Amino acid sequence: MTSLTLALSKGRILEDCLPMLDRLGLAPAGDIDRLLRVPSRDPNLHFLIIRPTDVPTYVEHGAADLGIVGKDVLMEHGGEALYEPMDLDIAKCRLSIAVVKGSPFDRPPGTPTTLRRRVRVATKYPEITRRFFAARGEQVEIIKLYGSMELAPLVGLADLIVDLVATGNTLKANGLVETEIICQVSSRVVVNKASMKMKHAALRDLLARLQTLRAAA
Ligand code: ATP
Ligand code: PRP
Ligand code: MG
Repeated sequence: MTSLTLALSKGRILEDCLPMLDRLGLAPAGDIDRLLRVPSRDPNLHFLIIRPTDVPTYVEHGAADLGIVGKDVLMEHGGEALYEPMDLDIAKCRLSIAVVKGSPFDRPPGTPTTLRRRVRVATKYPEITRRFFAARGEQVEIIKLYGSMELAPLVGLADLIVDLVATGNTLKANGLVETEIICQVSSRVVVNKASMKMKHAALRDLLARLQTLRAAA
């Protein structure tokens, strides 16, 4: 039998995937809190438990045959080198622009700025942000952060943020408001292009099993 390696995004996506994998009889058979390479209950499937941002890299280079990763991470990484055959519809959120409520930046999307400097945008997604504003003909100063973006406009580090929003509770708790949605986000299955050819039957079967769960959800 062909063996497959699946790169799983640690954190929310892993949590959301576990019940799905369990229903398919594919749950990890090992300590997912410590082990980085974990067998599944199916001897032909192994998991790599890695940081979400590393999943596209592992799959692109063939260190994993397939992966499960957020659309946000894929858009930032650039997904051209990967197949993206399935939307799992889990870990759903949106990527949005947010500002301090009532600040000069709290205004309708696209309102021209009267600032004499570039608007400063704090984000974990510099590429998506650059593309989004460039498409609108705006050049912004991007401040790359690795988490807790909501803090940046509160302490004057940035004028606005580009970050994920789900319930909106984090924005609200920090006195921020969402002014514009850039895109909707959910978790996707991505597949290495060479694996899709060389391990076609095994991948087709696994994708079909994941698809039945989606249909049943
Ligand atoms: P790290 O910074 O350690 O790499 P992370 O912050 O990217 O981790 P998570 O917060 O678990 O890890 O998010 C993983 C993915 O889950 C994101 O890429 C996104 O697709 C989705 N996600 C993030 N935040 C939310 C949220 N609040 N609600 C639903 N899905 C979310
Ligand atoms: C994510 C995101 C927001 C929050 C949005 O942060 O970056 O801060 O969730 O969710 P909400 O709209 O339901 O409040 P996370 O908890 O992953 O922290 P991080 O910044 O360390 O990634
Ligand atoms: Mg997070």
